[in-house]
Amino acid sequence: MKSRTFHPRLPHGLIAVILAALAGPAAGEDALKVDGARIEQHIVELSAFGRNQQGGVDRVAYSEADLDARRYVSGLMNQAGLEVRIDAAGNLIGRREGREGREGRRPLMIGSHVDSVPGGGNYDGDVGVIASIEVARVLNDSGTMLDHPLEVVVFADEEGGLSGSRGMIGDLTPAALEVVSHSGLTVADGIARIGGDPHRLAEAARAACSLAAFVELHIEQGAVLHDEDIDIGVVTGIVGIRWWDVIVEGIANHAGTTPMDKRRDPMLAAADFIKIVNNVIRSEAGTQVGTVGRIRAEPGAPNVIPDRVVMSLEIRDLDAGKMQSLFDKIRQQARQIAQRHGTPFEYRELDVASAPALTDERIQNVIARSAEKLGLSQKRMPSGAGHDAQDMARIAPTGMIFVPSVGGISHSPREYSEPADMANGANVLLQAVLALDEAPPECTIASAND
Ligand code: HGY
Ligand code: MN
Ligand code: MN
Repeated sequence: MKSRTFHPRLPHGLIAVILAALAGPAAGEDALKVDGARIEQHIVELSAFGRNQQGGVDRVAYSEADLDARRYVSGLMNQAGLEVRIDAAGNLIGRREGREGREGRRPLMIGSHVDSVPGGGNYDGDVGVIASIEVARVLNDSGTMLDHPLEVVVFADEEGGLSGSRGMIGDLTPAALEVVSHSGLTVADGIARIGGDPHRLAEAARAACSLAAFVELHIEQGAVLHDEDIDIGVVTGIVGIRWWDVIVEGIANHAGTTPMDKRRDPMLAAADFIKIVNNVIRSEAGTQVGTVGRIRAEPGAPNVIPDRVVMSLEIRDLDAGKMQSLFDKIRQQARQIAQRHGTPFEYRELDVASAPALTDERIQNVIARSAEKLGLSQKRMPSGAGHDAQDMARIAPTGMIFVPSVGGISHSPREYSEPADMANGANVLLQAVLALDEAPPECTIASAND
């Protein structure tokens, strides 16, 4: 690992102490604690799989590096006493049974993902996986039996459209299986490559309310916690994400002999479109975001006016209705661009959509209380990044714990979280698991606004 700047964290101060006192018995000296050094070591070891020259990872789902990383974490699961299997959607699952005599209880599930975006970092997903295995290991090594089975999950292909968690909630459609993933394989072929079976997906699907709870620990990927020097984010909701291919048709022609006023140039129309996306998204109050992150001109040569441009469009918000109305507005305004340039637009939505989801308030409270007992400062906040938890919220009471990302940088080799922050998050996860085991919430599914 490359060397990192050390960013000292301020003491939490009096407020946290008072809150901890008010919260009742502290998870003090005698409480079970994770091994922070072991978490850090495992994060470093995991970073070897798919490492790139910038010190991050190229570990897209279904690639060789992804397979290597999954083999590594499956070894860690074994060391933690977990029984490991791969479900039909390609999710890696380590399970430990509950106390004898408590058979029939629904499992508590924790976990995240180890696949990365192209050019990704070493913390997005990884921290939640390593911390979840650490929680299982601490329970195992201390001989602590839970009433509920505990399942630690490494979701497959989080970054390509939450494929693994969609499989787990029975929502991996035939169209989603045909989407070409970051690896170049279709999702179906990718699932087969990592040991799942796209023809038996029904076996991976968990029924609504078949889990007692799902909790995901993740880096914040924004700068709020780090800037405000807060230890723990208690996630209130997770944005929905929609992706389209936007295709602009023009007429290919000679770039030297075609006068500027005689062109039907889809690249020019695409430039106008990109500006419109930005204007429309910013025209309303709120935290919605819209991005054109990829563009391809065909045939793609300096001396040819292209006949076709294909762009990606992504829109995110906590409100599905608002996402639709923003898209409608963009499409409406793009009609004028199409007319002006003589270049028709076509929109093909990819079946990778993830609906916005609220987390379960009772689990938010469990996480908040766990942080308080540990004397950690905290803040309730929404997530602007997508997570498998938003799928899981459709079948189980679900919560998320955020830990600070230094500088808020993510999807980049420069992504970094402090070892102390990762250990804090893992201790909160451990305490939350113990609390949920003692008093699991009744299964009501938090309402999503789609
Ligand atoms: O793209 C996302 O929001 C996430 O990191 N998968
Ligand atoms: Mn990510
Ligand atoms: Mn992630």
